[in-house]
Amino acid sequence: MSRIVYVNGEYLPEEEAKVSVFDRGFLFADGVYEVTSVLGGKLIDFAGHEARLRRSLNELSMPEPAAMGELLEIHRELVARNEIDEGLVYLQVTRGAPADRDFAFPGEEVPPTLVLFTQSKSGLADSPQARKGIKVISVEDIRWGRRDIKTVQLLYPSMGKMMAKKAGADDAWMVEDGFVTEGTSNNAYIVKNGKIITRNLGTEILHGITRAAVLRFAREAQMEVEERPFTIEEAQQADEAFFTSASAFVMPVVEIDGSVLGDGTPGPVSRRLREIYLDESRKVAV
Ligand code: PDD
Repeated sequence: MSRIVYVNGEYLPEEEAKVSVFDRGFLFADGVYEVTSVLGGKLIDFAGHEARLRRSLNELSMPEPAAMGELLEIHRELVARNEIDEGLVYLQVTRGAPADRDFAFPGEEVPPTLVLFTQSKSGLADSPQARKGIKVISVEDIRWGRRDIKTVQLLYPSMGKMMAKKAGADDAWMVEDGFVTEGTSNNAYIVKNGKIITRNLGTEILHGITRAAVLRFAREAQMEVEERPFTIEEAQQADEAFFTSASAFVMPVVEIDGSVLGDGTPGPVSRRLREIYLDESRKVAV
């Protein structure tokens, strides 16, 4: 069945949806995006994703799409029209399509391009991968310096995932100046003696919406949290490791660069945090 997608104010079958060949997202990766998960037909952490989108646009002096005030309705409409019970909603905004290719930003007469589409994904919450845990390798972080902005420049993260696949692993953790920044599409954590350690916020990593929620729930549950950089060697010596993202929630990591953590199965802190995150997020889903 063909999906219904949203393009610049219209709901269309995916085959009929079009953007210009001069769109700056295509020519310059001049765009930002958000991914919001759907559980039980409801949006998880929507307000956080909307706030980060506004920040990304602002940091890049990109105009807000005219439909900015209707984003929740558009998300809900797409979830309903595509009958999404469990899955994801992708929102992409670019600096629009001027009449010709030009490095300079276009003037105000060029409206941003706004595209939203859904992915149906059963097993997002009851994930076989989360029960088993995943394997990561480390790769050098050679991305640009403003990783706090959620841009569509995803070539290096794609290459990182391919390097992981080639090495027989599931994902890659990126390392800069000896310290782990984040995963290719997620924030990275280790657990040592019950303490949850994750890199502090800055321009080096994306400020994960799931990260913010998970750290809040952890602190509410009286778990100790330390926000600081850690190395791959420290991670390999940790009791547990996991990552967080809107598309994987809390995902246990059981192997780092071939080194098995603990008994090679998801640890109690990761499992508990996944459970708390899913329970609490469902309660306030919209
Ligand atoms: N990725 N770091 C990076 C580099 C990311 O791409 C993501 C999200 C995160 C986690 O952020 P959040 O918790 O807000 O999803 C951290 C999304 C899911 C993606 O690109 O598919």
